[in-house]
Amino acid sequence: MFKPGTLWNDTDGRPIQAHGGGVLFDRGTYYWFGENKDAPNVVGVDGAFLARVDVRGVSCYSSQDLLHWKNEGIVLPAVPDDPAHDLHPSRVAERPKVIYNARTKQYVLWLHIDSPDYTYARTGRAVSDTPTGPYRYVGSIAPAGADSRDMTVFQDTDGAAYLFFSSDWNKTTRIVRLTDDYLDTTGPVTEAFAGSSREAPAVWTHEGRYYFIGSGCTGWAANAAEYAVAPAPLGPWEVRGNPCVGPGTETTFGAQSTFVLPVAGRPGAFVFLADRWNADDLQASRYVWLPLEMDGEKVTVRWWDEWDLSAFDDGR
Ligand code: GAL
Repeated sequence: MFKPGTLWNDTDGRPIQAHGGGVLFDRGTYYWFGENKDAPNVVGVDGAFLARVDVRGVSCYSSQDLLHWKNEGIVLPAVPDDPAHDLHPSRVAERPKVIYNARTKQYVLWLHIDSPDYTYARTGRAVSDTPTGPYRYVGSIAPAGADSRDMTVFQDTDGAAYLFFSSDWNKTTRIVRLTDDYLDTTGPVTEAFAGSSREAPAVWTHEGRYYFIGSGCTGWAANAAEYAVAPAPLGPWEVRGNPCVGPGTETTFGAQSTFVLPVAGRPGAFVFLADRWNADDLQASRYVWLPLEMDGEKVTVRWWDEWDLSAFDDGR
């Protein structure tokens, strides 16, 4: 059973380290990518105003059933011997997301790259021939010339991919299409949710509509989620409110969105993936995975102490 918010071990019996993550389904296997935070919090870093751990890299875990995860190792490691490198341990590398490019036959990883004071605000890319890496880092950009912090990439059913990123010091969410090789951005930029400071974006599509869930902007502290609906990834986006119901609604059940996962072979079944951050000991942050219910355009996330994929069966 999924037991949201509790310790979740991999198939070697070690705590899964894949925070701020996302899941790729590829040829019958799920791959979970996330931040490896398997290190103590560090204090006294120049300019760092929030709790942090040194960057260790991006972890990957694989699974057939979404419950049992095999550690595939750190697929994009930190670069400790070059202090100027985007992936130096002293910096910030968060929210990795991987999509597969059928045209170039490459797995393309995007992630938030920053300085400890979050003023560098760029987006990094890395590529690999296999889902489990190793990924080759190809540098960071200021997408569409703008600052970029929390982000995600979304691949549409027609193969077009989009970058959603918190910009203008997180006040605005910018959305822009990726080039055909998924390594850069191109075309018009949508500015969504102006002034509402959305972070932790997660995007999915269902029955021809597009959905966005984001958190508010309170660092590691949990706040209320909000979702929006659009006819196309570039919008226009219409805010629909908090998808969570029941106790814990105002804090997203003590967690922060990171991804919405379509369950393979079950149209309309989605899992809401979130992080329950532990700011005092970030490596002990937990995962909150919950069924995400779609009823027309209405999105609902409710708490379950434990659940499995039968939650998506009719008439539960
Ligand atoms: C959150 C953000 C996280 C991380 C954190 C740092 O708002 O969603 O990914 O950057 O701030 O405090």
